[in-house]
Parts: sequence; C-alpha cells; structure tokens
Amino acid sequence: MSIIKNDFEKISITKILKAKNNKKLTMITAYDALFANLFQELADMILVGDSLNMSFAGKPDTLSATLEQMIYHANAVCTGASKAFVILDMPFGTYINKDIALKNAVKIYQETNVAAVKVEGGEDRADIVKHLTSNSIAVMGHIGLMPQYVRSEGGYKVRGKTKEDEEQLIKDALAIEKAGAFAIVVEGVLSSVAKKITEAVNVPVIGIGAGNVTDGQVLVWSDMLGFFDEFKPKFVRRYLDGATLVKNAVLQYRNDVQTKQFPSKDEEY
Ligand code: KIV
Repeated sequence: MSIIKNDFEKISITKILKAKNNKKLTMITAYDALFANLFQELADMILVGDSLNMSFAGKPDTLSATLEQMIYHANAVCTGASKAFVILDMPFGTYINKDIALKNAVKIYQETNVAAVKVEGGEDRADIVKHLTSNSIAVMGHIGLMPQYVRSEGGYKVRGKTKEDEEQLIKDALAIEKAGAFAIVVEGVLSSVAKKITEAVNVPVIGIGAGNVTDGQVLVWSDMLGFFDEFKPKFVRRYLDGATLVKNAVLQYRNDVQTKQFPSKDEEY
C-alpha cells in the first residue's frame, strides 16, 4: 500500500521563518528511529520532546528526563530521519543559568545532528535564550503551559484566563523572539490569547492546545496515533486507534500460536 501523494520539502530555519503568514507548519514528536523514519517526509519538524519521559519511559512527568537520555533518543531519531529538521528538548535542570545552558547545548550539538534545541520559559529565561542564540545555537522557545514547571506551579493549568496572564504571555513571546528564537511553541493557552501572541511576534508560533489560530501545530505522536489510551486531553485529535490495532494484532498472534496456525509451511525453512 502506498501513502497519500506527498509534496515534502526539507525545511530550514529560513523556510520556517518564511512560513509565517504563508503556510501552516506541522511538527510531531518522535523518540526512536523507526517512527522518526515514518514521519520524516510528512511533518515539517520532528521534536524529540521530553514528553518521552512520560510516554516512552512511563514516568509521571517530564522532570526526571536526563540530558544523556535525551541525547540517546535524539541520535536514534536523527539516524532514522536524516532528512528531517529535528529539534531536541533541553531537559529540566540543564539550562538553569547561561553558562550551564551553553555547555549543555554545545554538548547536544557535538553529540547529535539536531538542528535546534527547545527551552521552556518566557521573560524569566530570555537572557538564557539570548546567550544560546548569540553563541550559534538555534533555539525554539516554549511558553504558556510549560510541563517542566508542573511541580512548582502545582499542576498543568490552562493559561491566559486573566487579563494579567494574557499580558504576561505576550511579554513572554516578545522577550523570547527578541532573544533570537526562530519559533515559539505556545501550549495550553486560550485560543483568543494564542491569536494575540501569534499576531504580536514575527516568528512562527506552533500551538498545542492553543486553537487553530497559530502558525502551526505540534502533537505528541503517541497521543495523535492513539497508542496512549488512558486518557485523551481535549486538544488531542486521534488520527488512529493505535492501541486497539496493536492489542488486536497481538491477540491474533497469540491465538495463531496457540492453535498452531503460526508459523505456516510458507513461514518455515
Ligand atoms: O515534550 C514535548 O513533547 C513537547 C511538546 C508537547 C510541545 O514539548
């Protein structure tokens, strides 16, 4: 079976910037070579998100992801998807000040082929983003609901519900743009506020749980393909019922083994 006709063109930072107001960008997470290879000619960008700590490693949040773990997965993704524009999340604690951030970002560039790193934070982290970009590290920002702040904030909270928070989010976006980020993820924000953020900056805004008003979208692969079926956040659309397909296939395999229908004569030497 062949896939739907595809007009994939490898993206660069210049093309990402030009996409603003021209083309909606698609980003998807990947954590391994197999899926990265499947996604690479379909999505504009592949994010090795620290969400892997939850959906791959089964941990309750992203905070215990380590730099070594992220580098390991980034290498798998870059190997499987050599044509893709790959971005790596800098994990919690690896960019707590300018010097530590630069040391770790350089390590990422030296040990992987990722095109860029992503860091969470707004005005509070703009000096760190500036330090990275002025030392030739390409940075994608991440504002709004920031999963690395889950313990300090006491949960995952939709942002932009008050005038004060709306103003803060716009300040965050402007500060991260000024610091040199080439794009900004805006997560878990009222769509009316995401629209204002998108209009306020000249770099593309990639939304997740922020409505269709942004310059592009990102989804976690296991959510959008329905492999994670414990719960479905409101903003996720499942394009496949992956969990049911996998469970049914494994059940069929078990039945075939038990009834000696697998392997058949054609499947033996
Ligand atoms: O870690 C991740 O997958 C992310 C996306 C949800 C944007 O940061």
